[in-house]
Amino acid sequence: MTTLAPALPLLRIGPHTVQPPVVLAPMAGITNAPFRTLCREFSGGKGLFVSEMITTRALVERNEKTMQLIHFDASETTRSIQLYGVDPVTVGKAVRMIVDEDLADHIDLNFGCPVPKVTRKGGGSALPYKRPLLRAILREAVAQAGDLPVTIKMRKGIDDDHTTYLDAGRIAVEEGVTAVALHGRTTAQHYGGTADWDAIARLKEHVPEIPVLGNGDIWSADDALRMMRETGCDGVVVGRGCLGRPWLFGDLVSAFEGTGTRQAPVLRQVADVMLRHATLLGEWIGDESRGVIDFRKHVAWYLKGFAVGSDMRRKLAVTSSLEELGAQLQELDLDQPWPDGADGPRGRTSGNNRVALPDGWLKDPYDCAGVSADAELDTSGG
Ligand SMILES: Cc1cc2nc3c(=O)[nH]c(=O)nc-3n(C[C@H](O)[C@H](O)[C@H](O)COP(=O)(O)O)c2cc1C
Repeated sequence: MTTLAPALPLLRIGPHTVQPPVVLAPMAGITNAPFRTLCREFSGGKGLFVSEMITTRALVERNEKTMQLIHFDASETTRSIQLYGVDPVTVGKAVRMIVDEDLADHIDLNFGCPVPKVTRKGGGSALPYKRPLLRAILREAVAQAGDLPVTIKMRKGIDDDHTTYLDAGRIAVEEGVTAVALHGRTTAQHYGGTADWDAIARLKEHVPEIPVLGNGDIWSADDALRMMRETGCDGVVVGRGCLGRPWLFGDLVSAFEGTGTRQAPVLRQVADVMLRHATLLGEWIGDESRGVIDFRKHVAWYLKGFAVGSDMRRKLAVTSSLEELGAQLQELDLDQPWPDGADGPRGRTSGNNRVALPDGWLKDPYDCAGVSADAELDTSGG
């Protein structure tokens, strides 16, 4: 176990102090209000918890589902929304709407989505390759944001031969962006291989004017401290490590505060959190059964490494009421200790895909013709 020797400088995102400097990564379909609430309960309210990605067009059009996704719990004091858009005007309108209607306290812009359906149209992590378009989006967002801080989250680039993060970081500084987060992978890597923390260090050197947040492969609180130490970054963004493990935020706070407390819940405690998560989802959706159905995607993450048996896993993955879920959990050997195999990577780990791009995309980083508006339609994240 490691401790950080000197006191860490405060992470400031505009008017917001994030102490310890720990951010829940936006994850589409995951980081909704119930999941953020769970993570915050474990962190004692410390840290910053970003919403799922919201597409700007859907927000401007007041799409019903989108309006639900931007709902924050009353206990969320720094309301953090992640937006994704490809058109400067629409992004600007979405930001203006957030400001005018007091919908959030912080806006993060997503430039990290590797999904082929999106990059094929020049969106997601393909977009920063077109420097002028990135600049135009950031300029419009910052102009419309007024006092709200605007941050960006991005990948290293399209592939190792077409990295974009240093230019994007510089453009972000020039356009008044408050902080940048870097996931140390290229689009081509998707979620495979290991995140390049050296790139985070290089970005920190390149844009000393603003906080740099490091992201990628933080599976434990000690990983977070190590990333801070090795890269000099100002804060960490934690994604897959907390899937089925929201108490990681408790560990992160302990680690940054210099105590050795790390949680290793027995299965009974995990089962309690599972039930609570499913309950919160049902309350949020306004329908218990739909909440439990939405919860199904989390089951395998919560049970990772525990001796549960494939039949039971299958049963748990098709439950549709809290009573059924509770009864099935009771059938497990709930005294099982936290398994060794549950630490380490979880969630998506596939990688090395060929990157789908519009024809001729890489010919000229300054030619911005051809980003189609439907690069915004997919909502599967970063
Ligand atoms: C299921 C899932 C959904 C995601 N959705 C988003 C998203 O909406 N916006 C975003 O910027 N990144 C998204 N990401 C990427 C994460 O925010 C993060 O950058 C990535 O998982 C690397 O961090 P990690 O190694 O801590 O998981 C998503 C990742 C996963 C696994």
